[in-house]
Order: sequence, then C-alpha cells, then structure tokens
Amino acid sequence: MRALIIGASGQVGGALSSACVRRRIEVYGTSRRGQGYLFLDLAEPATIAPVFEKARPDLVLLASAMTAVDECERNPERAALVNAAGPAAVAEECRKYGSKLVYFSTEYVFDGAAGPYGEEDPVNPLSAYGRSKLEGERACLALPGALAARTTVVYSHDQDSMNFVMQLINNHRAGLPMRVPSDQYSNPTYAPELAAAVLDLAAKGESGVYNVVGPDWLNRYEFALQACAAFGFDPAFVSPVETAALGQAAPRPLRAGLKTDKLAAALDRRLPPAAESLRKIAGIMKQYE
Ligand SMILES: NC(=O)c1ccc[n+]([C@@H]2O[C@H](COP(=O)([O-])OP(=O)(O)OC[C@H]3O[C@@H](n4cnc5c(N)ncnc54)[C@H](OP(=O)(O)O)[C@@H]3O)[C@@H](O)[C@H]2O)c1
Repeated sequence: MRALIIGASGQVGGALSSACVRRRIEVYGTSRRGQGYLFLDLAEPATIAPVFEKARPDLVLLASAMTAVDECERNPERAALVNAAGPAAVAEECRKYGSKLVYFSTEYVFDGAAGPYGEEDPVNPLSAYGRSKLEGERACLALPGALAARTTVVYSHDQDSMNFVMQLINNHRAGLPMRVPSDQYSNPTYAPELAAAVLDLAAKGESGVYNVVGPDWLNRYEFALQACAAFGFDPAFVSPVETAALGQAAPRPLRAGLKTDKLAAALDRRLPPAAESLRKIAGIMKQYE
C-alpha cells in the first residue's frame, strides 16, 4: 500500500506520516518547502499531477490547507483557491489513479449556534475559512469512496506547530500571560489519535463524512486549565476572555464541537480523553527538559 500525504509538513500531516511508518505503509509527503518532501502547491494546479505520477498512491491523505482563519477572512480568494479549487484538482487526480481520498475538514462548516453537531446536521459556515473548507469537502466527496474527516482544535507536542497547546507551552516558557476564550466550545483532538482513527476508517473502507474529534466538549479556557494541570503550570497565567474582546477578523463558531457516535460505531472506540493525551504530552516535555 502506498500513501500520499499532501501537507506532510503540517501538524496533522506529521502525525499521519508517523502513523503510516508505524503501520509499514509506504509513504510520500508533500510540502512547498522542499526539505525531502515532494513539492506541491494547491494554489498551482500544475504541481499536482507530477506528484501523483511519482507516488501512484493507493491512498491520498489531504491534510494541506490555508489554516490561518483570520488570514482567510482577509484574503478569501486565496482561501478559495487553496482550500477548495486545490482539493477539487486533487480529487480529479485521485479519479485518474483510482486512489482513495481522505479530506481533512473542520467544525467551522457550522455556525456554532447549537453544537455539538452530528454529521448530518445542516452546515452554515460563518467565515471565509469555513466556506472554503466546505467547498473543498464537497468537491472531494463528489469522488466515489472519498472520506471527509471533520475535526477541530487539533493539538500535539510539535515544535514547528502553532497549535493551541504549543502556544500555551511557549507562552508559559516565555513568562507571558495568555488570554483564552471562555465562550468557544469544541472537542480538542490529539493529532496522533486523529491520525490513527482516520487510517483505521480508511482501512475499513469507510466513506462520506465522519467526525473525528476527542470526547471532551469543553470551552478553550477549560481546556487550558486541563493542560496547566497536566503540565504543572500555575493556572493563573491564563485568564478567560470573551471571543468578541479579541477583535479577530473572522467570526468563530462559539457553541461548536462535534459528536462522535458514528465514529464509535465504525471503530468500536472513541478517542481517549484529553486528560490522558495531555499527560502523554507532559511525558514528552520531560524528555526536552
Ligand atoms: N489544526 C486544527 O485545529 C484543525 C481543525 C480543523 C480542521 N483542520 C484541518 O486539518 C488539516 C491539517 O491541519 P494542520 O493543523 O496540520 O495545519 P498546519 O499545521 O497549519 O499545516 C498546514 C499544511 O498545509 C500545507 N499548505 C499550506 N498552504 C498550502 C498550499 N498552498 N499548497 C500546499 N500545501 C499547503 C502546509 O505545507 P507547507 O507550508 O510546508 O507547504 C502544511 O503542511 C487542514 O486541512 C485543516 O483545515 C485542522
């Protein structure tokens, strides 16, 4: 089995690479940075075909995206190009090569009025990021057998990543106080567990939309406090704030989060609780001390 990870340099792509290697899956990874990756830019459709020609993948894991939500709001044309048109072109290549496609989608397809959401709930993205990701999801799901894994607040110990837990660790290390929204609810998701669950779904031949998130439905401040407890940080360095006070360019879905009954039925398990994954990160941090 050969897998192609588009966006192998990212947080989720890195976790997918490690999971594929552990499963002895032959893996090709892309990035726009070189450094041992195949070059692929979703904004440059001509760069996609040569990568497929080289990798001839059975499985394509599309983890690339323009992920900076406020940047997408400021530049919606680029967001649409990278998050929707690019994935549509990837789906076309998958059709040619008979590859199974997995698209990484987001809870931002919802407006956050009434979460947590099931897979069948009506979508209503609030932001350019959410709209572009939904368009990308739909383009990918038009390919027979494709899977869209919707996820949220993905975290891991990854020095190259600006994920929420790394921001917390870096701010704490720098002695900087941190304001954290107490009105944004969702399900924090540990990247290695996300990667493992998605590979399991793909191996079982699952298709369509699956929510793949952690089991805890928390606001971001509560999650920060859990992380502080796991890492032995004084919780006083984080303070709760309303999202509106942050003055961000893009609106956030507030009462978001995703239900995982469909995932549990398919895999006979849910992802482990955040407290357990945060303890794992605490163990990794000790190795760096
Ligand atoms: N992180 C979250 O909390 C979260 C939540 C919901 C959904 N998701 C989805 O999960 C996926 C992975 O997220 P992540 O956390 O791993 O993001 P990330 O760490 O920001 O990584 C983004 C990846 O996308 C690649 N990329 C960016 N622009 C690109 C372009 N124009 N062409 C090709 N590749 C490009 C980057 O590669 P280079 O810059 O090296 O080229 C990098 O590998 C994304 O689809 C995201 O929408 C993430």
